[in-house]
Amino acid sequence: MIQIKHLCKAYEGAEGPARALDDISFDIADGDIMGIIGMSGAGKSTLVRCINLLEHPTSGQIIVDGQDVTSLSGAELRSYRRRVAMIFQNFGLLAQKTVLDNVCFPFLAATGKVTSDNRTRALELLDMVGLKEKASSYPSQLSGGQQQRVAIARALACGPEYILCDEATSALDPASTNTILKLLRDINRKTGVTIIVITHAMSVVEKICRNVVVLEHGRVVEQGSVADVFANPVSQAAKVLLERVDWDA
Ligand SMILES: Nc1ncnc2c1ncn2[C@@H]1O[C@H](COP(=O)(O)OP(=O)(O)O)[C@@H](O)[C@H]1O
Ligand SMILES: [Mg+2]
Repeated sequence: MIQIKHLCKAYEGAEGPARALDDISFDIADGDIMGIIGMSGAGKSTLVRCINLLEHPTSGQIIVDGQDVTSLSGAELRSYRRRVAMIFQNFGLLAQKTVLDNVCFPFLAATGKVTSDNRTRALELLDMVGLKEKASSYPSQLSGGQQQRVAIARALACGPEYILCDEATSALDPASTNTILKLLRDINRKTGVTIIVITHAMSVVEKICRNVVVLEHGRVVEQGSVADVFANPVSQAAKVLLERVDWDA
C-alpha cells in the first residue's frame, strides 16, 4: 500500500517558490483502481512524478509497504522504480523499435540484455492486449489506441505492483478510450496490480475507479468512494468536474 503523507512540492517561480503540491495526504490500497482528478494545473502530473520519484518532493513522505521511499537512492531507488510502471498520454513508445522490442525494452533497461524468455513473455503480454500479430510492426503503423495497448504491455513487462496512468486516454477517441479502460480493469482483476488513474475527465473515473481523490491548486479538496463523490460532491472542484454547476446562480 502507498501512504502519501503531507507531501509538498515547490517550484521556484517568478514571485518566489510556488507550491504545486501543498500538504497532500491520502492512501492507495493494494489492488485498488484509484482516480486522481483535477483540472489542468491542479498538480496531478507533479504528484505522479513524485510517487515514482522522478522528482523529489520538497517535504513529506511516500510510504510504500511501511518503507519511506523518498529517502532511497542508488540500487534501492532503481528497484523501487521497477515496482511502479507508467503510462503516458503520448504513449512514449520508441519510434525506431518494433512493437516487440518496445515491450522488451524494460528488460533491456533492467539487465542490459533481452533473453528468449523475455521475448516469450513480451509476446504473451502482446497477446493479452490483443496485438500479438503486430509484434513486428512499428509504432507509427498503429492507431493511437493500439499504441497505448503496446504501452500497457510494456508497463506490465517487469511485473509492476503499481501502474500510474497520467491522462492515458486523453488523446484517444471515445471507442479507444473504452477499450483501454476495459483492458486496465481486466488487468487489475486478473493480476491484482494497483492502478492509479490520473485524469481531468470524470467519465474516466466513473467507468473504472473505485476511489477518487480530487485535487485543486495542489491540495486534496475531496476524497472518497466514486459512488459517494458522484452522489454527493462537496467541493466546488468536484462539482465543476461533474458539470453540476448552476450557470444562473
Ligand atoms: N518543472 C516545473 N517547474 C515549475 N513549475 C512547474 C513545473 N512542473 C509543474 N509546475 C507547475 O505546477 C503546477 C501543477 O502542474 P502539473 O502537475 O503539471 O498539473 P496537472 O498535471 O494537474 O495539469 C502548475 O502551476 C505548473 O505550472
Ligand atoms: Mg498533467
